[in-house]
Amino acid sequence: MKNEYRGTRIPQSWYNLRADLSEPLPPPLGADGHLLAAKEWEPLFPPSLVEQEYTCERSVPIPEEVLERLSAWRPTPLRRAKRFEEALGTKARIYYKDESVSPAGSHKATTAVAQAYYNKIAGVKRLVTETGAGQWGSALSLACGFFGLQCLVYMVRNSYEKKPLRRILMETWGGRCLPSPTDGTEAGRQALKRDPNTPGSLGIAIAEAVERVVSDGSGESRYALGSVLNHVLLHQSLIGLEAMEQIREGGEREPDTLIGCVGGGSNFAGLTFPFLNPGRGVGRPRVLAVEPTGCPTLTRGPFVYDHGDSAGLTPLLPMHSLGRLFIPNPIHAGGLRYHGMAPLVSHVLRQGMGEAWAVPQSESFKAALLFARTEGIVPAPETGHALAGVVREALSTEGKGRVILFTLSGHGLLDLQGYADYMGGRLEDVPIKEEELLKSVQGVSTFEDALGRAAKAVQPYLPLLP
Ligand SMILES: Cc1ncc(COP(=O)(O)O)c(C=O)c1O
Repeated sequence: MKNEYRGTRIPQSWYNLRADLSEPLPPPLGADGHLLAAKEWEPLFPPSLVEQEYTCERSVPIPEEVLERLSAWRPTPLRRAKRFEEALGTKARIYYKDESVSPAGSHKATTAVAQAYYNKIAGVKRLVTETGAGQWGSALSLACGFFGLQCLVYMVRNSYEKKPLRRILMETWGGRCLPSPTDGTEAGRQALKRDPNTPGSLGIAIAEAVERVVSDGSGESRYALGSVLNHVLLHQSLIGLEAMEQIREGGEREPDTLIGCVGGGSNFAGLTFPFLNPGRGVGRPRVLAVEPTGCPTLTRGPFVYDHGDSAGLTPLLPMHSLGRLFIPNPIHAGGLRYHGMAPLVSHVLRQGMGEAWAVPQSESFKAALLFARTEGIVPAPETGHALAGVVREALSTEGKGRVILFTLSGHGLLDLQGYADYMGGRLEDVPIKEEELLKSVQGVSTFEDALGRAAKAVQPYLPLLP
């Protein structure tokens, strides 16, 4: 039985929430503030992905070859966490979409397959990327292996040192992995000059990967991003689309609360956006994005135009940001240590369609440990944040009688050191001081300033338009 899991088929199209926004998503800008033309993304991404970055089509068909690869693990299971509910003593019914069943162990493999496919058919030979905890790097190495592409991964040094097994996994699938910052790129050298002992950050690793692609004279390399951008969120919509059908088939009512952890925003958007489609004609669920207090992008970062990388090589994106030079505390959830947030997620929350919470890592490990001991699956430290949100929600008085659905975004079988530290009482929650945050967002263009400058720049050309 292909493309099916207990009667549910993989959807044949991705869902794009952009088609249904009441206020349009603000556009990306060039580093000097000009309105970015789609073509300007092309040194980084193949034209088909650039098109998906801009499209406002509601439904985007999934190529047959992508469906065929994804059918190895999709549709992913939807399960009820009954023993977890019992242990919490809640009346809420808690469901999870289990993305940990992908070969790489997380939801990241879904966009990795689509991205590798589109690069392959565009004639690209090598994909270069960054990774935090290694989930994205291993997912892309897997997908590059499927399509015969080379894969080079800049892995944030803190995780490279703490999670050697992830590096070995990348190499097992044929990828090459370097600890970031390296001294092989200008962005890496600058970061090492600022702090020779830096634990690294996703912003620095992205800068290194982008620099490597744009300085590669062969034209055969492209960049791949595991979150944040519209096309990545589009690919992850399978999570919510499948869950919707599985809930219906299981005879359960519509979930009233949806919860996901947020790093760059892709698993959260993947689960929640299909449920936010106003065309479905059902009430909008409560939607909660959970981030670490060690990297509080949505809860404490202003909404600005900022670069996605530390060196300012990527376009300016309208998003919540802690500033591109922000170095988050070295928490175990390496995949949540990102200074920015997906523009679409930032936009949706600004429109009042969802809320954000920040939880300390000790609370996330407490929830993850209870889940492991009741349901059996050891959640990734990133996923632990979603679980902490689930626990808070299920134990609140509002939890009574609720149907909660969350993304189990990945397993933590290669992240056990975090569990060992938690169980051994060695886990630290280091709060970020307000002065530190203020310093790191200094100099970032406010949203209004950046958009105002872009509007002025296009004004003289408007009369020339048909
Ligand atoms: C297991 C897992 N969950 C969540 C995330 C956060 O990423 P995103 O917000 O794009 O889903 C990551 C990132 O690496 C991850 O590995």
